Amino acid sequence: MLLEEQLPRLQRLIKEKLGPLPKDVFRNETVMRTTFRQLYRRLPRVMSLAVGEEGFVEFCMRNHTRLLNVKDAVAEQWQSNGKNPEPLRTTADTEALAESARKRWVPTYAPKTMILDRGQGARVWDIEGNEYLDLGGGIAVSSLGHQDPELLEALHLQAGKLWHTSNLYYTEPAIRLAEELTAHSFADRVFFCNSGAEANEAAIKLARKYSSKNHPPEKREILSFTGSFHGRTLATVTATAEPKYQEGYEPLPGGFRYCPFNDFDTATEMIGPQTCAVLVEPVQGEGGVTTAAPGFLKHLRARCNEHGVLLILDEIQCGLGRTGKLFAHQWEEGVTPDLLTIAKALGCGLPIGALLATEATASAFQTGDHGTTFGGNPITTSVAGVAFRRLRNPELHAHVLRQGEAIHNWLKGLNLELGIFREVRGRGLMLAGVLREELAGKAGELMEAARQAGVLILIAGPDVLRFVPPLTISDEELQTGFDRLGPALRAWCQAETAA
Ligand SMILES: Cc1ncc(COP(=O)(O)O)c(C=O)c1O
Repeated sequence: MLLEEQLPRLQRLIKEKLGPLPKDVFRNETVMRTTFRQLYRRLPRVMSLAVGEEGFVEFCMRNHTRLLNVKDAVAEQWQSNGKNPEPLRTTADTEALAESARKRWVPTYAPKTMILDRGQGARVWDIEGNEYLDLGGGIAVSSLGHQDPELLEALHLQAGKLWHTSNLYYTEPAIRLAEELTAHSFADRVFFCNSGAEANEAAIKLARKYSSKNHPPEKREILSFTGSFHGRTLATVTATAEPKYQEGYEPLPGGFRYCPFNDFDTATEMIGPQTCAVLVEPVQGEGGVTTAAPGFLKHLRARCNEHGVLLILDEIQCGLGRTGKLFAHQWEEGVTPDLLTIAKALGCGLPIGALLATEATASAFQTGDHGTTFGGNPITTSVAGVAFRRLRNPELHAHVLRQGEAIHNWLKGLNLELGIFREVRGRGLMLAGVLREELAGKAGELMEAARQAGVLILIAGPDVLRFVPPLTISDEELQTGFDRLGPALRAWCQAETAA
């Protein structure tokens, strides 16, 4: 029998054979190893294991968070520290801090006058103790909520060991994460970096390098789609087929062309001998939460095959369980990319991105062809290792679909009363309410009305309200969100009609 299948039994046996363990057993690696060794020696004879003592101990070490119920232990410790859920008292002044930021930060963002301070599950609090339900998840990042005990534990363990080495040296967390990512995807190889834009930048560079090694110089064009968003570096902002992100940064890098999203015929015309790669989001996020039409990704795959073109899927926002499957392209059968990028939820708040690649494409990069100082850092990859195991769990995906349906239905119900949306769309917990034409440009106002009522939501352009909460959001949290959002949107509509 596989050890993995024995996990629940091993959990029970720890209690039966070893009794209550010291609360912080998981903080000391030597004590943990000794504990698992003792367990091995006391296992019932009938329990057949395919590994010897060393293999058993290593397996237990890799799965210690589950075996030692670390989740409960850490949660208990956190609560007894009084850090959560009690409001933190601070002498900081909201207005003074915000004013300092406004004076000193390069003004690329314009946050509201509110200083967020701490979080728990799907809730966050500001320094004045005001509570907000987080339906934006830090822009589709905090997929396991705030202060998840298992993530905290992974962070603490690694923080007490080693923070950084650079890629001149191997560390185990990055290797383990690469093993997991390749075991549970199409990919043979992984390149770690620190953000979504960097993952896409790496994908674009790898595609070009691959083409330079295998095709004539005319075949270097990258095709992307209207409504897309791929990042803010010069190459990724050029791939982002939206003038508002590009204006003022000219001259932009050459070799990028744009095709209307979900337009089968134009895609057929535009993918040809000159195309090096097609870059596409299976569900466009920033561009308005637009799902690829049924058959569109398959169509792109087929055209790519026809012309020897690489298919790059940007799953930075829609991947990692967000739509109710591990990867969003899995909603369509028969679509396997050559390259795929992830970031956002992979670190659940720590900065990490990854490019996943097939052996054939990855081998176009040789030593020295691309690089990063921080990518694959042991702290981010330790946390991402735990995050990825949780995010690929089918039970979580079922929960995502259930909660997604609840939000979808609630938005539709509210719309029967208020008539503000012309469409409610999206998949899983990546959802949007598209404002009807008369309310065009008002999404920001609605987002602010929601914030003032204690709910953080996002917009995706000026006409779309976007909901990308933690995937773990509970029924109670969701209901709190509805109870606050309903009256807030009703009041906004009344004021709008009166105006
Ligand atoms: C689909 C997609 N690609 C790329 C990016 C860029 O990621 P980052 O902001 O981490 O660079 C984003 C960010 O919103 C995104 O949604």
